[in-house]
Amino acid sequence: MAQTTSLPTTATATIALPTANKIGKLPLESAISQRSSVREFASTPLTLEDISQLLWAAQGITHGEGLRTAPSAGALYPLELYLLTSRVESLANGIYHYDATHHALQRIEQGNKLSKLTAAAYGQLWIKDSAAVIIITANYERTSRKYGKRGQRYVHMEVGHAAQNIYLQATALGIGTTLVGAFTDNEVAKVVGVKDNEAPLAILPLGRLR
Ligand SMILES: Cc1cc2nc3c(=O)[nH]c(=O)nc-3n(C[C@H](O)[C@H](O)[C@H](O)COP(=O)(O)O)c2cc1C
Repeated sequence: MAQTTSLPTTATATIALPTANKIGKLPLESAISQRSSVREFASTPLTLEDISQLLWAAQGITHGEGLRTAPSAGALYPLELYLLTSRVESLANGIYHYDATHHALQRIEQGNKLSKLTAAAYGQLWIKDSAAVIIITANYERTSRKYGKRGQRYVHMEVGHAAQNIYLQATALGIGTTLVGAFTDNEVAKVVGVKDNEAPLAILPLGRLR
């Protein structure tokens, strides 16, 4: 049985996400060939449907027993997703945790935190112009418990799977993103408020294409 995501104890509100579409308009081959890193965004907001689709693509549950859109060594699912928002329709700006089991967001904190996140990512200024950011963190223990030291390698592979799914889903929706790996770990952890046993591994700012 696959492990389910535990809820952060600090969560203050739960927002149900619309059901993710399983059929899209852009063929997979077109999404793969059109994918590229985008660092300039239109001022148009994203919708809750966009957010639902992007989070589902990264870690949504697709099969019985909690199996997900991206593979996971031993189906142990060490990754957690956080969403920081600045322009999403019908969603107050804040920091949210993605509850994959219930396909819902749990609000952790209110307010637009993108300036702080930008500072924690060596001042890559385009980050604060995005409409929303997905941060992928990992709890290494979930995987290393079974696989020992090799578990670390597996966790990093899994981040790549989830990030590529976000890239391809974003491309299919006319949304741009770039995987940001250059940031100060403890500063990003502080901005997001992740627990001590979770490490931030990737930042993906998102926004409509100009
Ligand atoms: C592990 C990793 C870390 C990256 N970190 C950053 C980053 O901190 N800032 C950035 O602007 N782009 C970052 N990128 C994006 C690369 O610059 C980009 O993928 C590369 O230039 C190739 O362009 P393409 O993605 O459009 O094909 C990163 C990409 C990867 C895979």
